[in-house]
Amino acid sequence: MKNNFKDIFHHEYESHYLSPARINLIGEHIDYNGGKVLPAAISLNIEAWVRKNDEHVFRFYSSNMPKIYIHELDNIKYDKENDWTNYPLGMIHTLRNNGYIIDQGLDIFYSSTIPTASGLSSSASLLDLTACILNNEFNLGLSREEIALYAKESENKFNGLACGIMDQAAISLGKKNHAVLIDTSKFDFNNQEYEYHNINLNDYTFVVMSTNKPRKLVESKYNERVDECNLALKLINDYYHLNYHNLCEIELNKLDEIKSFLPSLLYKRVKHVLTENKRVYDFIDSLKNNDIINLGKILNESDLSLKNDYEVTGLHLDTLTQASRLQPSCIGSRMTGAGFGGCAIALIKKDQFEDFKNKVIDIYQNKTNIVPSIYEVDIVDGVRKL
Ligand code: GLA
Repeated sequence: MKNNFKDIFHHEYESHYLSPARINLIGEHIDYNGGKVLPAAISLNIEAWVRKNDEHVFRFYSSNMPKIYIHELDNIKYDKENDWTNYPLGMIHTLRNNGYIIDQGLDIFYSSTIPTASGLSSSASLLDLTACILNNEFNLGLSREEIALYAKESENKFNGLACGIMDQAAISLGKKNHAVLIDTSKFDFNNQEYEYHNINLNDYTFVVMSTNKPRKLVESKYNERVDECNLALKLINDYYHLNYHNLCEIELNKLDEIKSFLPSLLYKRVKHVLTENKRVYDFIDSLKNNDIINLGKILNESDLSLKNDYEVTGLHLDTLTQASRLQPSCIGSRMTGAGFGGCAIALIKKDQFEDFKNKVIDIYQNKTNIVPSIYEVDIVDGVRKL
C-alpha cells in the first residue's frame, strides 16, 4: 500500500506494521459465555507507518479520513470528538495504566482496506496494531497473547464495549491457512488455551459479503445481549443451586428443563449459546474429516439460530445470506461477527466466484438499494512489524 507520511509529518517514516481483519467461522456470540470460537485472520488489513518524535505528543493520521489528530501523551482521555483515534488512545492509556513505560510520542500514519464498522473487526485490528507498534517502539516485551488481552481490556474499559476476547486474539494469533480455536473460558493473563486448525477446503473457498450497512457496536444491542446472558446464567444458577461460571458450562440436555422456568426471551438466548457451542465441536470434527458439505450445513444452522433465537441479523444480513444460499455454488453461509448489519461469510465453489458474486449483488441491491461488497479472501498471519 502507498503512504504519504512525509507530506503529512515532514519526515521519513522509520518503521512499517500490518494488522489483518478477521472472520469468525463458527462460535458466534459465545466468546463472552465461555465457549470455544474459531476465527481466522484474513487478507484485508490496516497498515501503519511510524516515526518516534521528540515530544510528548501523539499524532495520528489516516488516509481513510484525512485529518491530523494531535494528543498530549499525559492528557489522554476518551472523547467523542476524537473519532477513531479513541482506539489508539485507549491502547496507550491501557498499557500505561498497567505499568508499561511509554514516555515519548509517535507520529503514525494509518491506512486501511477493512470496511469500517462492518463486522470484520476493524476496531480490534486497530487496537492490536497500535499495541504491536507500542510494543516494538518502546520494547515493552509483550507476548502475542498479552497484546490480545490488553487490547480487549482497552475496548472494554476505554471504548465501552463488553466484547469477548475473540477478535483481539484472532488478529494477534492469526496464522496463514489456519483458523485458531480459542477456548475463551481459559484465556486470561494466567493461562491461554488455543490451537490451530488447518483450513483445507478442496475446491471450495470462503467469501466475505459485506452488507455495507455500517453500524456502531457500542450503540447496538450488543451490550444488551451480554446482559441477557448474564441474567440467564444467574437465574439458572438460582434454580439449580449450582455455580456454573458461564453458560457454555451447562449441559445441552438441560435445555428442555431450562425452558420450563426461564422467561421465553432468555430461553431463546440460552438455546442459541448452547447449540452454537455444540456446533463448534461438530465443525472441528467435519474439518478433521474433510467433510466440506457438512461444514456448509453447520454454517446454515448457526445462521438460523442467530436469526431466530439470538436475533442479531436483520433485513440486510438476512437478504444477503438468503441470496447466497439460492446459488448452486454455495453450500452454506452465515453472518459473521456481532451482526446488526456488518458482514456474512459463504462457503462456495472456488471456480464459480464471479457468477456467485454477480447474482448475489443483483438480488441484494434490488431489495435494499445498497450495493454489497463481495470479497475473495485468504487466511493470513496475525499482526506484525514488516
Ligand atoms: C464482536 C465482539 C466479539 C464477539 C462477536 C460475536 O465481534 O467483539 O467479542 O462477541 O462480536 O461473536
